[in-house]
Amino acid sequence: MGGTNQEHYQKIGSIYDDLWSYSDEYIQFMATNIIEYLHLKPTDTLVDLGCGTGMYSKAILEQIQLDNPIICVDCSEKMLEQLPSSDQYKTMAIDAIDFVSQAEVYNQVFMKEVIHHIEEQELLFSRLFQRLPIGGNFLLILLPPTIDYPLFSKALQRYERGQPHYEKLAKLLEKVGFHVSVNFVEYLQVIPKSKYFHMVKNRYMSLLSFFDDQQLAEGLAEMEQKYAQQSILEFPDRFVFITANK
Ligand SMILES: C[S@@+](CC[C@H](N)C(=O)[O-])C[C@H]1O[C@@H](n2cnc3c(N)ncnc32)[C@H](O)[C@@H]1O
Repeated sequence: MGGTNQEHYQKIGSIYDDLWSYSDEYIQFMATNIIEYLHLKPTDTLVDLGCGTGMYSKAILEQIQLDNPIICVDCSEKMLEQLPSSDQYKTMAIDAIDFVSQAEVYNQVFMKEVIHHIEEQELLFSRLFQRLPIGGNFLLILLPPTIDYPLFSKALQRYERGQPHYEKLAKLLEKVGFHVSVNFVEYLQVIPKSKYFHMVKNRYMSLLSFFDDQQLAEGLAEMEQKYAQQSILEFPDRFVFITANK
């Protein structure tokens, strides 16, 4: 992960959950989908790769009891610090590629909204393929090439330039040996405008750290104008779910 991103997550760690909790319903919805796409069973050993504050691991454990702790991996200690200390989680402050390169036993892995931070994607996938047992799964969750978030136009353009394309990732996963399927999962976000603007002001997406204070203020002014008539913002949040099975 580049220096700027590393700093971004170290800075934002303690307020990340407040900023990102669009709603409990949404987090539970995402957790349900992760459980279903992985066909998660109580005896599985699950890894949340690039777990951040572990928001989805926590929600998963509200829906299914697992015999083994979830291995929560993130390179930002400040993000990991937000996880409750409990024997339900094993936290590891380590880079994703280093993690998949070392001996650790697990059969289910999910990675949500992290892949845009990883430069050596093929290396990550091939090491993970070697590490997983036959039948093991990797669920890669990312945003599509374009998003309908109510952000300012320069932020949306910057997003489109930086986001890896899911088709390229699916091909890479196939190349290293996985059986791959691609699906789309959509959730309608409904959020008070003041809350969303607060999230943007606090640079809730790492994408927003590419803009300095002045540029962010200009972006917020553009949003203020565009959504002047609305007190609630509604937008579809679409996710690509790439399931890679060994
Ligand atoms: C957008 S957040 C997503 C967090 C979590 N998966 C979620 O969906 O809430 C991206 C996370 O990836 C972590 N990250 C970025 N690059 C990483 C890497 N190379 N190895 C491990 N974690 C990384 C960051 O520290 C951050 O916590």
